[in-house]
Amino acid sequence: MENNEYKNNVISFLNPKSIVSESFRALRTNLEFSMSQDNKKVILFTSSHVSEGKSSCAANLAAVFAMQGKKTLLIDADMRRGVQHKNFGVEKQNGLSNFLSNVGFKTQGFFKPTDISNLVVITCGTTPPNPAELLSSHRFKKLLEDYKSFYDIIIIDGAPVLPVTDSVIVAPLVDKIVIVAAYGETHKDELKLVKTTLENSGGDIAGLVLNKVDSRTSGYSKYGKYRKYNSNYYAYYSNEEKK
Ligand SMILES: Nc1ncnc2c1ncn2[C@@H]1O[C@H](COP(=O)(O)OP(=O)(O)OP(=O)(O)O)[C@@H](O)[C@H]1O
Ligand SMILES: [Mg+2]
Repeated sequence: MENNEYKNNVISFLNPKSIVSESFRALRTNLEFSMSQDNKKVILFTSSHVSEGKSSCAANLAAVFAMQGKKTLLIDADMRRGVQHKNFGVEKQNGLSNFLSNVGFKTQGFFKPTDISNLVVITCGTTPPNPAELLSSHRFKKLLEDYKSFYDIIIIDGAPVLPVTDSVIVAPLVDKIVIVAAYGETHKDELKLVKTTLENSGGDIAGLVLNKVDSRTSGYSKYGKYRKYNSNYYAYYSNEEKK
């Protein structure tokens, strides 16, 4: 079942020596540098549209932080299309929407441990009718505030910016935002709009991850079994991107 998706998406755990894992470790290092002051530790992943790779990147980054020994919390805040329960093979229910709405919420089992030591997941929970409203609630802000001191790093997997407002609501509550773009799919103008929209809501953008780069054209000739899936994550991250 979920096992296949797990294998596809959390490559950094299953194949730590791969080029993909190396890219995520590089992204981790860059983020560590950019967050070194002021006890910054909450990162939001978002993108312009659906299916650009936000959840895969969030899961892999969470894995490399945890594998480095950091106490890591991954929150699936995409209550419309959440997948982190599948990526980590845990129960979807009793997740974020249940906590925020206080419907079907139990303290026990809310923080879900994974097969990766140091990595805990809060799943998206039951699909609610009003995700944006739930994310605007004081309960979400308080959840982040309360657990910031307990975890070394909190990674939030968000919804895309252009179709829905969820990530715009979350943007001012996090320390850094990583925008994911899919190579050959995401338009430059849309990326600019995403950047402006997030910044106008008070978000601090750390950089861009260019995902779905074809390993055959990116200069990496050896890529083993993932090559045919076009899964060469190329983590591009630079201050230049902010301009
Ligand atoms: N680099 C990649 N190469 C090939 N497939 C990828 C890559 N990154 C993600 N995918 C696949 O693309 C699909 C969408 O990925 P993912 O769920 O990470 O995107 P998303 O932006 O979170 O989507 P959504 O908007 O639905 O939340 C998944 O099936 C995933 O396995
Ligand atoms: Mg997703």
